[in-house]
Amino acid sequence: MSKSIIFVCLGNICRSPLAEGIAKEYIKSNNLDIYVESAGTGDWHIGEPPCENSIKVASQNGIDISMQRARQVKTEDFEKFDYIIGLDDSNVKNLKSLGCKTVIKLGDYGYEGKDVPDPYFFDGFEGFDKVFSMINTCTKNFIKTIKN
Ligand code: 4NP
Repeated sequence: MSKSIIFVCLGNICRSPLAEGIAKEYIKSNNLDIYVESAGTGDWHIGEPPCENSIKVASQNGIDISMQRARQVKTEDFEKFDYIIGLDDSNVKNLKSLGCKTVIKLGDYGYEGKDVPDPYFFDGFEGFDKVFSMINTCTKNFIKTIKN
């Protein structure tokens, strides 16, 4: 049976869309059977595409995330998905307070448990490269641990 992953950040417009895009690309190019979505704990950006800088850094790395649309995480997701992954400690805490019992932290898969910094308040594009690298490394490492 195929496995499923949902990546969760705060707004679902900067970080988790990158994780979704990177995961889908990796899954496709490795012929894996894993279903992926992303969501935010907040409701401010529901229905919006990813932020311009995330679309840009993804595109520079050969990934098109422009068709994604933000949605808010819901409690049914905790039953539906095998793996619920938060991008930083506050995402993990928010997910736990919503009743999610098993939350994984993305930074535990290659960045010593570090938070993926929230780039929403970054000044321009600077920093998005680092965010992309962190998400890229950890997302691929995580998928490697579950693919068998
Ligand atoms: P994300 O970034 O959690 O990586 O999507 C944010 C996007 C929007 C907000 C915060 C973080 N916001 O407060 O609207």
